[in-house]
Amino acid sequence: MTQHLAAPAAAPTTGTHTGWWRDAVIYQVYPRSFADGNGDGMGDLEGIRGRLPYLKELGVDAVWLSPFYASPQADAGYDVADYRAIDPMFGSLLDADALIREAHELDLRIIVDLVPNHSSDQHEWFQRALREGPGSPLRERYHFRTGKGEDGSEPPNDWESIFGGPAWTRVTEPDGTPGEWYLHLFAPEQPDFNWEHPAVRDEFRSILRFWLDMGVDGFRVDVAHGLVKAEGLPDIGAHDQLKLLGNDVMPFFDQDGVHEIYRSWRQVLGEYDGERVLVAEAWTPTVERTANYVRPDEMHQAFNFQYLGTHWDAEELRRVIDDSLAAMRPVGAPATWVLSNHDVTRHATRFANPAGLGTQLRTAGDRELGLRRARAATLLMLALPGSAYVYQGEELGLPDVTDLPDEVRQDPSFFRATGQDGFRDGCRVPIPWTVEGSSYGFGDGGSWLPQPATWGGLSVEAQAGDPGSTLELYRSALAVRREQPGLGAGEDVEWMEAPEGVLAFRRDGFVCTANTTGRAIPVPLPGRFLLSNEPVSHGEGVVELPADTTVWWAV
Ligand code: GLC
Repeated sequence: MTQHLAAPAAAPTTGTHTGWWRDAVIYQVYPRSFADGNGDGMGDLEGIRGRLPYLKELGVDAVWLSPFYASPQADAGYDVADYRAIDPMFGSLLDADALIREAHELDLRIIVDLVPNHSSDQHEWFQRALREGPGSPLRERYHFRTGKGEDGSEPPNDWESIFGGPAWTRVTEPDGTPGEWYLHLFAPEQPDFNWEHPAVRDEFRSILRFWLDMGVDGFRVDVAHGLVKAEGLPDIGAHDQLKLLGNDVMPFFDQDGVHEIYRSWRQVLGEYDGERVLVAEAWTPTVERTANYVRPDEMHQAFNFQYLGTHWDAEELRRVIDDSLAAMRPVGAPATWVLSNHDVTRHATRFANPAGLGTQLRTAGDRELGLRRARAATLLMLALPGSAYVYQGEELGLPDVTDLPDEVRQDPSFFRATGQDGFRDGCRVPIPWTVEGSSYGFGDGGSWLPQPATWGGLSVEAQAGDPGSTLELYRSALAVRREQPGLGAGEDVEWMEAPEGVLAFRRDGFVCTANTTGRAIPVPLPGRFLLSNEPVSHGEGVVELPADTTVWWAV
């Protein structure tokens, strides 16, 4: 299909050094909820294209797009039926081509989401596997097995789905009888590929090339830790397996065999010019195991979920920052930092609630406190060495929508009794662009999830130009980050003496102080004031750091 498209516009070449991704700020667009160009209530590529100048003005370096491929949307597009087609709901390949081209003209890079662990059950391979019945070679590209028990009516092993219930579903064979089972670590509509099969490996190298030819600058690899399963698919011997995930290597996650796949992908990327990158969504028990994904011949970056899960607490933050930097140092990869994404409660709401409730919440908490801490946490994140991820809407200080009525929810895990908490819709509510209008400027045709009445006051229009707004704070922070050579770059922070509850560190020409407590704390004046999330006043040689406030200083 690409032959209808002109040669892709070259990726941006400006930048201070090679490895643009090492200190890049990458903005996550969730296409359904960013901007709706055709007024059907659902965001789309045309909508994103129209907002590229906004992203340029915000000051980010790259845009990561969550999936826009042809999909029945059983898991909001993370169930792909055709990896080389755009879902008509989002547009066409021509729109994707225009989007990539226009982004490059603005010096913005484009990273697309790749979903290799599983396909949709509507994928042609899976449909043929079902139609052809047991013994079909197509069944070998997935994990089909006969069930246990005399009549095969029990799942082949005891694995549980991340979304709840068994990780296996039994199919009805073409002759109408109950037959084999297939593995799905997520929803039943997301059958897992068998990555031992050469056809699966070839197919994904070809898919990589398809998008590299389209001109994308990289891939965010979904469930990068899941592709390879332990030989023989052994039982785990325990229930509530989700609870084990953070601590143990599971037979379906973080198996050593995945690394060979990423080495072969790195070679594919190496055939292309312009520093294309691979970013791992790898949930592993430790940052050390995450570092395995970013060894020099594998991926370039991995999300730092340990950081995402850290509370607003100086001691905890310092530990995770140190651990993250230490884990990345031996492999030479940059650390990354992230506070929000499309799978967790927005950090403005997490920090509004007592610590320790997890990352999927149903309670709004103290909004004012949450926003204040969120703004402080963002300034801290943007002062750390490495690359940072910003999730759409966090630059507006959006809270999670915690009171969505059950009947509008769409997250597949919400509808399953056990497993991951299904409250991911709350961070997926469409973005408000204008103060008035049916969907606050999201589009002309309403919005696929209802927006709260407060959304207009949080819109881009309401905040642009207001120096106290969260939007202007992000814009200023990203502008300073570009101008201040030490910010983002490097591999280390130099910790300074600080009172309990305060973090203070030095970087090249720069000091960051973060007071994570609820009270003002005096410290010696560290340098020339640059930026903070709350007004700061200082006298001769001393400054009173306000509660829950991060300040940037030039030294
Ligand atoms: C990743 C995605 C999540 C999706 C899951 C299954 O964790 O971020 O949204 O549900 O993979 O593809």
